[in-house]
Amino acid sequence: MTDGIESRLREERKFVPSAEFSAHARVQSHAEYVSLYTQSIESPEEFWRDQTCDLVFRTRPTSFLEWNLPKAKFFGGATLNITESCLDRHLKTSARTRAAIVWEGEPGDTRTLTYFELHREVVRLSTQLASLGVRAGDRVAIYMGMVPETAIAMLACARLGATHSVIFGGFSSDALRDRINDCGAKLLLTQDGAWRRGSIVPLKQMADVAVAQTPTIEKVVVLRRIGAEKAPVTMKEGRDVWWDDLLAREAAPEHRAIAEKPAAFDAEHPLFVLYTSGSTGKPKGVLHTTAGYLAGVHVSSKYVFDLREGDLYWCTADVGWVTGHSYIVYGPLSCGASCLMYEGAPNFPDPGRFWKIIERHGVTILYTAPTAIRAFIRWGDDWPNKADLSSLRLLGSVGEPINPEAWTWYHRVIGGGRCPIVDTWWQTETGAIMLTTLPGACYSKPGSTGLPFFGVDIAVVKDRGEPCGTNEGGKLVVKSPWPSMARTLYNDDERYVSAYWKQIEGVYFTGDGARKDEDGYFWVVGRIDDVLNVAGHRIGTAEIESALVSHPFVAEAAAVGKPDELKGQALVVFVTLKQGQTANDETKANLSKHIEKEIGKFARPDSIRFADALPKTRSGKIMRRLLKEVASGATEAKGDTSTLEDLGVLAKLRADED
Ligand code: WTA
Repeated sequence: MTDGIESRLREERKFVPSAEFSAHARVQSHAEYVSLYTQSIESPEEFWRDQTCDLVFRTRPTSFLEWNLPKAKFFGGATLNITESCLDRHLKTSARTRAAIVWEGEPGDTRTLTYFELHREVVRLSTQLASLGVRAGDRVAIYMGMVPETAIAMLACARLGATHSVIFGGFSSDALRDRINDCGAKLLLTQDGAWRRGSIVPLKQMADVAVAQTPTIEKVVVLRRIGAEKAPVTMKEGRDVWWDDLLAREAAPEHRAIAEKPAAFDAEHPLFVLYTSGSTGKPKGVLHTTAGYLAGVHVSSKYVFDLREGDLYWCTADVGWVTGHSYIVYGPLSCGASCLMYEGAPNFPDPGRFWKIIERHGVTILYTAPTAIRAFIRWGDDWPNKADLSSLRLLGSVGEPINPEAWTWYHRVIGGGRCPIVDTWWQTETGAIMLTTLPGACYSKPGSTGLPFFGVDIAVVKDRGEPCGTNEGGKLVVKSPWPSMARTLYNDDERYVSAYWKQIEGVYFTGDGARKDEDGYFWVVGRIDDVLNVAGHRIGTAEIESALVSHPFVAEAAAVGKPDELKGQALVVFVTLKQGQTANDETKANLSKHIEKEIGKFARPDSIRFADALPKTRSGKIMRRLLKEVASGATEAKGDTSTLEDLGVLAKLRADED
């Protein structure tokens, strides 16, 4: 990639927000940011008390933090029902009739839910979930697309104190099954199918395959989105129920009471489990709890997106990933914001779809990913230029490093040169934004994720935790706990501690490499562990490898990333076949299909390379660094290769370039 890391190293431009933007922003100057940040670090109790005073607590916290690895207890003594902050509290204000969700389906159908209506729908669904036996502490799986009902389902679970686990609709049946079994969900919410680029993802059919092997699932609730003609489904008697039929049932008074006057839960009550990729084979069930998560997403939504009445905010992420959880559902709704939600692909029916949506609804804030921006650049300026984008006032980026060229295009072509860009760095595990510029307070530098957000004590360090100097590359770590951090990995405290808190003793290791410049701005390079970021999707190399070796043809496999102009990273796999198997295109297609089945379409490799053997160290570890170089076409092996077991293997791989 010509405009990747090198140009980020050379980047020195500063983009200052306009005086007009700053004059109306929540934080208007760098000095004001510094003063709030300092308070958040030095007097966190006071900071969080002030900043969460608009949220609904049944009982207020009496302490800020008790930290005893791996147990973090934030806002001790507090009890709350998170949905009261996201819904009920708005019913007493002008937000009651304000749009909470403005939804557009891929075929062009639209629907708006006011806060009043969203609240009513959540109460209706939680009443019926209670009648199906869902109780506080139960796990509920959600395998749905981008429809308002997905947000309704999440909130309905939260209202009952049930822990939801949303599984991205792009995951395969096998991946769905494994996640359900890991968290032991008792109920699954799904839909007949989801629109994607004019065709249908048969979610219910895939769910059926999964649920045949998930002993804990008792009931499946099915939303009819598509209809029987295009998305035929089989309903299993006694197990499956249509969403509409369920809502139409007469509710018992006790179930209505649970939903209408919801219980308050402890601050640390588990809110959701979200599976993400780590550096070993098994996906991690990242567990977030209630009060700290809410505080983090609320305060960051308010300040980073500068939300206010009159805004229409659009986060283009899928609700199946953390960005959707924090910045489509909990964060913006806790602020009473109006959120646009779009069901389908950005280029359906043509590459102008996003810009038409902005024009049609008058979107003011757009939060999207660099991969999407790079695709739009490729599709040409005509598409955005044809639309009226003058309603936009703020742009955001998330998910992967943004190259300065994509940044400046976003700024100029989409933002008309007038909209600040917030490049937000964070992770599934951090729950909320950790690094960013505040749009009215700080200038931005293309490619830099800016400064620490409130309450975030973050640094770049060397292997043993010694601080790096200015502009010196190192590991990005968080030095002390913060309210929205993951509390554990589901049922696996040990892995939580070893994956995050023990690699560098006493601090949270993010898995990312970064540097901090002379102005205190952070520049995130990307993952330095065995996790890839392909088109903004987190993919564990070990997950891909274990999928591959589960195929009967495969003896050994290694997955690495290679720089890619569009996706940031492309997935390249090296495979050695078992004796008697033939290395040809048919085998490649088979292996690709196999990964699709094990994980999902989005994890299919960009390139499959066959090798007689994989290069290994004397201790038998696959030399990934070397394979990475081979994948990206470097002709000479860099660094020390003297420990290679068989240099001939490397030579063979090189000669065998695609
Ligand atoms: C990467 C997504 C550079 C990073 C919210 C991190 C970024 C991983 C940025 C987490 C950014 C996210 N600049 N890199 N603005 N935002 N990342 O868990 O490598 O899906 O560790 O969370 O994405 O991905 P996850």
